[in-house]
Amino acid sequence: MATHRFDPDFTDNVINSMGSKTSPRMRQLMTGLIRHVHDFARENELTVDEWMAGVEMLNWAGQMSDDKRNEGQLVCDVIGLESLVDEITFTLAEEAKDAPTATAILGPFFRADTPYRSNGDDIVINKPKDGQMAFMHGQIMDFATQRPLVGVTVEVWEASTNGLYEQQDPDQDEYNLRGKFQTDADGRYYFYCLRPTPYPVPGDGPAGKLLALMDRHPFRPAHIHIMATHKGYRPLVTQIFDRKGKYLENDSVFAVKDSLVVDFIPRDGDPHAALELKYDVKLVADTQSDSV
Ligand code: BEZ
Ligand code: FE
Repeated sequence: MATHRFDPDFTDNVINSMGSKTSPRMRQLMTGLIRHVHDFARENELTVDEWMAGVEMLNWAGQMSDDKRNEGQLVCDVIGLESLVDEITFTLAEEAKDAPTATAILGPFFRADTPYRSNGDDIVINKPKDGQMAFMHGQIMDFATQRPLVGVTVEVWEASTNGLYEQQDPDQDEYNLRGKFQTDADGRYYFYCLRPTPYPVPGDGPAGKLLALMDRHPFRPAHIHIMATHKGYRPLVTQIFDRKGKYLENDSVFAVKDSLVVDFIPRDGDPHAALELKYDVKLVADTQSDSV
């Protein structure tokens, strides 16, 4: 029995219009989506103007997106959807007792074409005057055996102190503050980077407009992105957050988890960096697939 005063059969008619060739998962997802969206419209008595404003926002996000910018993802981020999906995925893995290193969202600034660098290299091609250099290192291990993994690809990326990733900033060289490394014979990776600083998510598109309409600040806490991939293991996508930075309690995209908050410590005797950060990662063998 419908609990509203609108056409009681309408939503079921839309759901039942799906054909028999729809896959079970597609049927499940579309049934849920249609029900929730229709309930949302009825409960809020959505007007045509409000619905059209939403459609225009989606179109604007599409028009702004290209291979360097993913505005649709950013809109999902400011309403917490990417972080929620990440939490669901991590919880399922944790329930299967195989989620040793916490995950976090990929975010819209990943670049698949990032070049490999050698361990010990510097990802800071353009050093900002106010940047603090840090030596970041760690070991990648197999979660079950605790043995070091050799040849793991560890990809990292971070924003500069002006709050911009290289693809957002014509004054930074391409691939500044990003790089791919491979673990050595002891499963170790190491490189020089900047101590990260907080930055605002871009405000010139629909995600920024939504934040302003909701009277929210746009800042992300200081973080470094990490993606670790190895043949035969589940890829790990995460971010680590500087404990000393602002916005840990109110990240604009809700990605902070306690276990991802890290400490930079003083580093002695290195003329290139006064700070050090150690971050180890445990990867889980993928029994379902042999692809990276
Ligand atoms: C990022 O971490 O780079 C990011 C994540 C979500 C929205 C914007 C930026
Ligand atoms: Fe980021």
